Amino acid sequence: MRLIRSIPELRVLLKTLKGRGDRIGFVPTMGYLHAGHEALIKQCRSRCDSIVVSVFINPLQFEPDEDFHRYPHDLDRDQTICLNQGVTILFMPEPKELYSTGFSTFVDPGPIGQVLCGRYRPGHFRGVATVVAKLLNTIQPDLAFFGQKDLQQSAIIRRMVWDLNIPVELVVTPTIREADGLAMSSRNSYLSSEERIRALCISRALLASENAFRSGNRSAGELVGIAMQHLTELDKLQYCELVDALTMDPIEGQIGRLAGLCIAGKIGNTRLIDNTLLSDAEDPTYQLSLVGIPE
Ligand code: PAJ
Repeated sequence: MRLIRSIPELRVLLKTLKGRGDRIGFVPTMGYLHAGHEALIKQCRSRCDSIVVSVFINPLQFEPDEDFHRYPHDLDRDQTICLNQGVTILFMPEPKELYSTGFSTFVDPGPIGQVLCGRYRPGHFRGVATVVAKLLNTIQPDLAFFGQKDLQQSAIIRRMVWDLNIPVELVVTPTIREADGLAMSSRNSYLSSEERIRALCISRALLASENAFRSGNRSAGELVGIAMQHLTELDKLQYCELVDALTMDPIEGQIGRLAGLCIAGKIGNTRLIDNTLLSDAEDPTYQLSLVGIPE
């Protein structure tokens, strides 16, 4: 595995790998890697010859009052995980490598970035779209891998790749959970043991709604209502909404082909998000992928 911090060095190495015909897969992360990230890397390994993982805590996607300065990190551990997972290149740039003095060009995802999390984190998805566009331009992978855990993020990246004709295929993979149901997240490390127990109400809410869906309930209002009953343990509920999983458009009345039930809330100071897909499709998460290069 090569640990690379500069863009020119990255480009030279990628040129060699591409020159010998390698199919390049890319997994962008903010580090403090857990089994959710590892699942993305494994998927990448099964479909690509060379694996590039980036670890970059992107200042642009944090609101001024958020946890940028205390976001968890453990670079040694991340390196060991990547080494064990057979990663080819671990790209760990300094902020100035990606945002040089005078940086002033941004990718604005538009309305899809203003709903759900966008209502509570107004600049967040502009920061995400900008850094992901930069990383995709820098690496030019054949495939890039994202987690369903961040459903709205996956929808925004898919839209951006399509809108900006970025020549990459996107693969979205299912959410990895702790044994008790809590969706894995680097931010779970902020939770006290008491908060960690209360956080389980989110996965319980999703499961209750999933069970109702499987029993034939297709009423958006009722499915949201069933989830809401479990969310009283949150200190603050930000949203519990059913949306079209591809467009993030709200669903009212009967739910459609691929619906996402999305929840965000706070336990203490920690903001948590989670979602589930309500769909009869055989592999609903795969439906979120963007197969083929945009025209
Ligand atoms: P980060 O939160 O580190 O997540 C990196 C990738 O791992 C994302 O695609 C995310 O959806 C996925 N992921 C996180 N938790 C997961 C879980 N429990 N199961 C499966 N996949 C999971 O998302 C970001 O970083 C950033 O916004 C980034 C895309 C890197 C841009 O800065």
